[in-house]
Amino acid sequence: MADKSMAGLDHFSVRAEDKGIDTSKKVRVGFIGCGWIADTHMQSFIKQPDVEIVAGADIVPGKAEAFFKKHGLEGVKTDYASHKEMLDDESLGLDAVTICTYNCQHAGPAIYALNKGINVLLEKPFTVTLDEAVEVMRAEKKSGKVLTIGFQPRFDENMKLIKKIVQSGELGEIYYVQTGGGRRRGIPTPHGTSFIEEETAGVGALGDIGCYSLDMVLNALGYPKPLTVSGYKSAYFGKDSKYCGYGKKGEEYSKKFGVDDFAAAFIRLEGGIVLDFRIAWAMNLDTPGDTIIMGTKGSLRIPSTECWNGTVGGPMKIYHEVSGVQVETELPVLKTSGGLFDHKIRTFLDACKNGTPSPIPSSEILYNQAIIDGVVKSAEAGREVEIVIPEV
Ligand SMILES: NC(=O)c1ccc[n+]([C@@H]2O[C@H](COP(=O)([O-])OP(=O)(O)OC[C@H]3O[C@@H](n4cnc5c(N)ncnc54)[C@H](O)[C@@H]3O)[C@@H](O)[C@H]2O)c1
Repeated sequence: MADKSMAGLDHFSVRAEDKGIDTSKKVRVGFIGCGWIADTHMQSFIKQPDVEIVAGADIVPGKAEAFFKKHGLEGVKTDYASHKEMLDDESLGLDAVTICTYNCQHAGPAIYALNKGINVLLEKPFTVTLDEAVEVMRAEKKSGKVLTIGFQPRFDENMKLIKKIVQSGELGEIYYVQTGGGRRRGIPTPHGTSFIEEETAGVGALGDIGCYSLDMVLNALGYPKPLTVSGYKSAYFGKDSKYCGYGKKGEEYSKKFGVDDFAAAFIRLEGGIVLDFRIAWAMNLDTPGDTIIMGTKGSLRIPSTECWNGTVGGPMKIYHEVSGVQVETELPVLKTSGGLFDHKIRTFLDACKNGTPSPIPSSEILYNQAIIDGVVKSAEAGREVEIVIPEV
């Protein structure tokens, strides 16, 4: 499984619980990409009382049709060879699309949809490169439509608590942050090779799960601008035909592996904060470390998860002083009501309908993407690089 954010999610019934939804106006939704994560999107979309799923496109012939059939939906138009054909079909009257394509097909469909005046829910990572993210944001700006990026851990109560703690000032001035995580053996190939081939994925662990670790801390800090990065990436496991996660496909998959399975970086952020980051799809270690947010009045330790299930790996602890005595405060793990994907999809629909701000705005995730892009560039150059973010 690529990330476990969708595993075991306790989906809730929007119909039963959320009485504030105006069902007189339906949002006409199309799917772009009908693979693995589209299934999880579908499970949430079909619960929404104000959604009409009208179309779907996948570049693999027959895949979209089979997808909607599997979910018991009839009358959904699927006879499109690409996202462009579907978005060009004005008879659909699309209000929104959910883009569930592999990473290298995030920017193109998002730009095309925004240029057509259609609201976009785009799966994570934002894009592969920083330049692509900027192009998507230019289209967003021109269209005035909603663009949200699919970081569902944002809706986890523990993630919200991390932000609350940092923003409250309880930790004082933040000067050092360590984040990341990973799996001992967890290169995601349960449904083929779209996560590991350069042409489809573009980035490996760095973009796939690294983006979540970065978002957890950057969101808590208020998304300070990244200034420089010294990055490293490697692919010792992915390119090894004996890698046990591949099962019998070792020969085939190891030859196709064209991305990173481990990345590390030292990033300087605006405000004098340094960010120490490492992420792994596979390693000879249980975890490359907990997330740590160090401040002048206190520090927060966030136990790493088996990576990435969208929450914390155990009770968080604050290390601080009370009247000169050094103490530790353990925080209970909070339960989130409802499924994270349900929140992700509902908040997107609400923004589309009410013209409210994007729940997970591109202006924040741009910095996440700038770091990923910077790690790649620095690793390739073998030295620290400056992060230059083009004007949107
Ligand atoms: N938020 C999460 O928890 C989560 C979990 C898994 C994957 N993802 C993200 O979702 C994306 C898709 O992952 P997946 O596991 O579903 O991959 P997948 O390979 O199973 O599915 C992608 C589908 O998109 C189709 N496609 C590609 N380009 C297209 C285009 N231009 N038009 C129409 N269809 C196109 C492919 O044929 C394929 O069927 C990735 O970017 C991944 O990072 C997010």
